[in-house]
Amino acid sequence: MKKLLILGNWKSNKGVTDAIAWFAQIMHIQDALGNEKTAVLFPSFPLLFFAKQQIAEKSLPLYLGAQNISPFPKGAYTGEVAAAQIKEFADYVLIGHSERRQYFHETDEVLAQKTELAVQAGLQVVYCVQNEETIVPKNAKIVAYEPVSAIGTGHPDTPEAAATVAHLIKKANPQVGQVVYGGSVTSRNVASFTQMEHIDGVLPGGASLDPHEFLTIIKNA
Ligand code: PGA
Repeated sequence: MKKLLILGNWKSNKGVTDAIAWFAQIMHIQDALGNEKTAVLFPSFPLLFFAKQQIAEKSLPLYLGAQNISPFPKGAYTGEVAAAQIKEFADYVLIGHSERRQYFHETDEVLAQKTELAVQAGLQVVYCVQNEETIVPKNAKIVAYEPVSAIGTGHPDTPEAAATVAHLIKKANPQVGQVVYGGSVTSRNVASFTQMEHIDGVLPGGASLDPHEFLTIIKNA
């Protein structure tokens, strides 16, 4: 049986007060997870410390990830957060989300640099691609396929089309062990994706903001 990844990306949303409310309602995450699923939350940087405390305090089976990483090591790079700094709080990192490529003009070269530093620091990279042609660095083991037309639009890709792309990504990149789908995932459509042979999980953005919806996504996956 495949081990599913459920990756919640909060993007630039929520402050500490919102996070307190979210964590208060996520207590039953173990029941939703069962044994075959791993849940990872990607809050923004200022919330990572708080989220780590909440997880420890409440003994939650939830991993943390960062949404971005510096393309440089620790040092004099004002405003950037280096891989080694992230590793104190998180086990995963999203690299190359389409919003990073679109609004911050991140290139394949920069993303490969980020991936290298993340792997060196011991972070699990979730490398985001928009189609099967996007270059995937050789050291990226988890890929998120997130077609731009499906992100935040309420118009997800079809499970069949997403599974075809996931399969092509695995064939073209033998190092990739898991491909997750992202783009308007909800508790209602999640199973249609996770039941596909080559889809190993989901990356909900908007739907992860609501704790009940996030738990239901985990349960239904
Ligand atoms: P969405 O975002 O779930 O809000 O569509 C998904 C993504 O950014 O991959």
